[in-house]
Amino acid sequence: MTMTVTKPKPTPPRHCHLPYFSTQNGHLQAGGKRIEQLAQQVGSTPFYAYESRLIKQRIQALRSELPKSIRLHYAVKANPMLALIQQLAPEVDGLDIASKGELALALQTGIDVRNISFTGPGKDASELQAAITADVTLNIESAAEMRHIAALAGNSKARPRVTLRVNPDFALKSSGMRMGGGSTPFGIDAEQIPALLKELATLNLEFIGFHIFAGSQNLQSNAIIEAQNATLQLAIQLSEYAPSSVQLLNMGGGFGIPYFPGENPLDISPIAKNLAQIAEQAQIALPEAKLALELGRYLVGEAGIYVCRVLDKKVSRGQTFLITDGGLHQHLAASGNFGQVIRKNYPVVIANKMSDEDTEMVNIVGRLCTPLDIVASKVALPRAEVGDLVVVLQSGAYGLSASPTAFLSHPLPEEILL
Ligand SMILES: Cc1ncc(COP(=O)(O)O)c(C=O)c1O
Repeated sequence: MTMTVTKPKPTPPRHCHLPYFSTQNGHLQAGGKRIEQLAQQVGSTPFYAYESRLIKQRIQALRSELPKSIRLHYAVKANPMLALIQQLAPEVDGLDIASKGELALALQTGIDVRNISFTGPGKDASELQAAITADVTLNIESAAEMRHIAALAGNSKARPRVTLRVNPDFALKSSGMRMGGGSTPFGIDAEQIPALLKELATLNLEFIGFHIFAGSQNLQSNAIIEAQNATLQLAIQLSEYAPSSVQLLNMGGGFGIPYFPGENPLDISPIAKNLAQIAEQAQIALPEAKLALELGRYLVGEAGIYVCRVLDKKVSRGQTFLITDGGLHQHLAASGNFGQVIRKNYPVVIANKMSDEDTEMVNIVGRLCTPLDIVASKVALPRAEVGDLVVVLQSGAYGLSASPTAFLSHPLPEEILL
């Protein structure tokens, strides 16, 4: 009897991810070395590796398109690895932090404290005090927080620089994660801002501007353009109530990167062109204002990989499972549990079998006792065996630091900057 077997075609690398990492003789490379060599160098798996060259290139490419007057800030939360932010800090105009821990990291980069902004709801007294002492800009998230900062500053005789984070009356369409519009814990509703500015004028605070951030992980330039236009208009309206001129309009982050089949890289050039117009309008309506973008994912996301090793391989009722030493506890986002509504696979490859034609359909999982611990489900990949290295691409942002590493008490993975 003859049987025709249709072999599944390898899914990744199918779209735009691999151009960032090269392959030589069937082996994926990062930082000019094979992933197996890196694994030896690190001494254990899993690990994260970030290529500094790619981050630099990304920033340079972006800057070459953006109008010169647009400031480029980095949101440390996207990837707070110290070596990475130390390398990145001189390339950007500012760092956005979201905790006292990130403040300590940002200060270690040596960046001018005036270019550090502290954003995020629920800052506690010790965080506010540390930020005031360090003299960084505080992005106010509520009326109570504004009063708290003023009270702390009163004690220390400082005059903190503050911006108001505005929850706009619009949302960023087609964004992976909404950060504004509707009811949200982020920022102060736009309609409450006039009254707050009036009160701010009576406090010992230096008002410097607004922070308006509508949404994250957006791949639609039109939607970003629309939101940025609306952001400028809102800032102009609100500036009428400001106690002093607006010196900074921070338009937040949100530029997305492609993760899934069918997604395309964000087209920056229409956004850059529109920002040039926004800058012109701002020059007239908010003449003292600097305009800033505060990007996280877009700057570092594509420069990172997560590497884990196949520990076991088994078949369960017709489905093949590769059990790895990585998983949800170290890469929550790839498991689909960090904001995905319908779970999709991050791009995954077998690092040491990049050109193998012999493929099979597998489920790649971790070793946690939960069915949520998925690295990739039902993916066609070269036939992998115990010892092979699985690489999750697009892992430079919201990877390790956005994962529940304590779950099951496995050791922390290494992070290397190449
Ligand atoms: C205040 C603030 N700024 C910037 C960012 C960065 O967003 P992204 O990584 O989408 O650029 C975030 C992300 O949540 C944020 O909360």
